[in-house]
Amino acid sequence: MVTTQTERTALYADAGRIFQSTADHYARYRLPYPLFLTDTVVGLAHRHTAAPRMVDLGCGPGPVSLALASRGVDVIGVDPSGEMLATARKQAAARGLLVDWRQGTGETIADQHGAGGVSGAVIADAFHWMNRPRVLQQLDQIVAPGGFVAVLCSHATGAPRPWWHDVIATVRARYVGRVPAAGIGQDYVVPQGDHQALLKNSPFARTSVIRAEHTVRYTLDELVGVQFTYAYSSPALLGDRTEEFAEDMKRSLLAVEPSGVFEADVTAALILGWRP
Ligand SMILES: C[S@@+](CC[C@H](N)C(=O)[O-])C[C@H]1O[C@@H](n2cnc3c(N)ncnc32)[C@H](O)[C@@H]1O
Repeated sequence: MVTTQTERTALYADAGRIFQSTADHYARYRLPYPLFLTDTVVGLAHRHTAAPRMVDLGCGPGPVSLALASRGVDVIGVDPSGEMLATARKQAAARGLLVDWRQGTGETIADQHGAGGVSGAVIADAFHWMNRPRVLQQLDQIVAPGGFVAVLCSHATGAPRPWWHDVIATVRARYVGRVPAAGIGQDYVVPQGDHQALLKNSPFARTSVIRAEHTVRYTLDELVGVQFTYAYSSPALLGDRTEEFAEDMKRSLLAVEPSGVFEADVTAALILGWRP
């Protein structure tokens, strides 16, 4: 059972443990990235070479790996969480797609057999968990000349949050207090600057950002379910208060939207980097 702030913070040192508790919810409730952004990554990979290979760092249950694999890209999907990878395998089997799933981290990607000479790397909602400068150095070793790094973010920097954000944050604070946004493990470096600034200071310094607005729509159960996909309100952190949290969240959300349907326009971003 997780009770104290110290225990909750310590859990963050182990991304695998946090994310193992989110894996099932993730595959069920997390909404896809705007198609336009994943299509852009696919297009760049095919423009690089006729038979592109890519790595997906922090692939989780594999939504992006699978989107790429379904469009003719060979993908190595890497994640430290065995549960996330197990969910990814199930998703791939259900869709008849082949991805090379590997347990590992972004910081050690150059050690993965067969990762050398890839057309690019995609990192979707996962870069903030990594030692980003180290990951970019590793990618410099394995991304082929002319290749690229693609950082996909379901929430673009500075974009407004959905209108229900404050309601959720207030309920969450009652259960988990203040928790870090991402890891505190040995490799973890508190992000300084946004992802684009990091890329500009890396071998992939020629950058471009594409923002895509799209409408998201959740039922009440889906909006509560998606909270369990976030590290900061993961079942691992909520412990034996998980059910109580869900009931409280439902009551609070219904109080502000009695229809039980939650819709908002949100902005995602794709941050791209190439070598100058
Ligand atoms: C929010 S999930 C994103 C999953 C997936 N990319 C997506 O877009 O849905 C973040 C993922 O990063 C993984 N992760 C955490 N630290 C990592 C690291 N150092 N290297 C690679 N992946 C990491 C977690 O296990 C988790 O699956």
